[in-house]
Amino acid sequence: MKITGSFPKSRLRRLRKSKWIRDLISENNISHKDLIQPIFIREGINKVEAIKTMPGVNRYTVDKLPLILKKVQSYKIPMVALFPYTTNSKKDILGSEAINPDNLVCKSIRLIKKKFPSIGVMCDVALDPYTSHGHDGILIKDQIDNDETLKVLVKQALLQAKMGCDIIAPSDMMDGRIGYIRNALDKSNFKNVNILSYAVKYASNFYGPFRDAVGSKRKLKKDKKTYQMDFRNSFEVFREVGFDINEGADMVMVKPGMIYLDIISKIKNNFKIPVLAYQVSGEYSLIKNAINKKILNDEAIIESLMAFKRAGACAIVTYFALDIAKKLNKL
Ligand code: PBG
Repeated sequence: MKITGSFPKSRLRRLRKSKWIRDLISENNISHKDLIQPIFIREGINKVEAIKTMPGVNRYTVDKLPLILKKVQSYKIPMVALFPYTTNSKKDILGSEAINPDNLVCKSIRLIKKKFPSIGVMCDVALDPYTSHGHDGILIKDQIDNDETLKVLVKQALLQAKMGCDIIAPSDMMDGRIGYIRNALDKSNFKNVNILSYAVKYASNFYGPFRDAVGSKRKLKKDKKTYQMDFRNSFEVFREVGFDINEGADMVMVKPGMIYLDIISKIKNNFKIPVLAYQVSGEYSLIKNAINKKILNDEAIIESLMAFKRAGACAIVTYFALDIAKKLNKL
């Protein structure tokens, strides 16, 4: 592109001289409509428990979910993402609890659909909250077996759809799962259930606080590098996203988000499909801790979210969703 103009005829500061002119020409904006609030659920009754590694984020027993759902509703956040903290006694090597119709996620979907029908529900498809080894798939001879895992993921996705989940979000990184799940959903008459594929999910160090929040951190022996992506790479993004679109994904997710903005813009520029971003737990905790210690002021949150919009994301999963929606709506 040829740059035209020069000083003193051109003065770039003229377009920054007042708030109203800055607002008029702003290229990107964020609203409550762009945000997805993750929610952690735990067993028991009448408990709201703080998560130490994620200041300001709680785990709720199912009966207490209305506390946070009422806020989601009044701050007009369109969708929540559900994550269970499963007790050790319910974890096993196969992650069987994932396909129990009375597990925490299923109970929560039923509650939301009954009492808060206007809120969209998105659920992860992956076994890590349910396995005794903390991996996302079935472990056979020290390897996560792709094709055996697919069979369970299909069952998990179908169960979530049956409970009323609106958006199925496979985050397991098994090859071929989008096609398998799309086929199964279509065969069972869930043609209108969306698939948001975590198509681009890196083996990241920034998931630490989340693993603590769902109780898989201490269980996990090795890393997830044989299935999640290598953070040195970006070329394989084209195949990950391309395959998932061919297999039936409606939308794709980039995760983590903040430190992968280059990836978001690559996808945006090369595929005509909605791209979402996940501001993951480590990214959240870094900013939140700095704000709590008064190292940053809280405008840093909006700045971090605007980066996703600038890169091309249409929506953002973020643990800041409630705070920011409240602020944006001046509630
Ligand atoms: C599970 C899953 C993870 C996250 C979302 N779903 C962790 C992982 O893959 O180990 C991370 C989210 C976050 O860090 O906020 N497959």
